[in-house]
Amino acid sequence: MKALVVYESMFGNTEQVAREVAAGLAGRGVEVGVVVVGDAPTDLPGDLDLLVVGAPTHAFSLSRPATRADAVRQGAVPDRAGPGVREWLEGLTSPQSHPPRVAAFDTRVSSVRWLPRAAGPAIARLARRRGLRVADAPTGFLVTAVGGPLADGEITRARELGERLADLLPAEPGPEGVPR
Ligand SMILES: Cc1cc2nc3c(=O)[nH]c(=O)nc-3n(C[C@H](O)[C@H](O)[C@H](O)COP(=O)(O)O)c2cc1C
Repeated sequence: MKALVVYESMFGNTEQVAREVAAGLAGRGVEVGVVVVGDAPTDLPGDLDLLVVGAPTHAFSLSRPATRADAVRQGAVPDRAGPGVREWLEGLTSPQSHPPRVAAFDTRVSSVRWLPRAAGPAIARLARRRGLRVADAPTGFLVTAVGGPLADGEITRARELGERLADLLPAEPGPEGVPR
């Protein structure tokens, strides 16, 4: 099974979650790569089973150039203000046969558990528009302030998300086409 975790992160918190989700996937035997959105491929490889996409919640949704500029004014590294997950998903092409399943996550300061107006649900919406099948409900991870750090327990939740996503993947066929 092959997975790719693509993240956007202005202050490094979403990146931390992305790396932990990847560690959870790898711990379950999934071959996984992690890439910042600016370096992510716009043509997805044909053998990808799972695409995990994570981004910070900005103004109740995915970031835009103006909100990323605002983050830089609040202390984020200017290099991170390049194109975000919204722009990447809008330009994404996926293989017609065997498109990967998608799982979305976001980081946010709001402690409202079910927050429909956040980056994760926006990722899921855009992914569906690109013809991708969303595998799981989006997950939100809490930061304690705009620049972080992540709230207690969120790193553990991130690893558990990776493990749970690995369990959602169909078993790889064995040599005789029988699931292992
Ligand atoms: C311009 C801007 C707008 C934001 N809007 C929201 C928001 O609408 N809801 C929310 O919960 N957090 C909001 N936040 C907090 C971000 O979600 C937080 O900075 C982010 O999760 C940190 O992740 P990062 O370190 O990966 O950038 C906002 C932050 C910035 C800079």
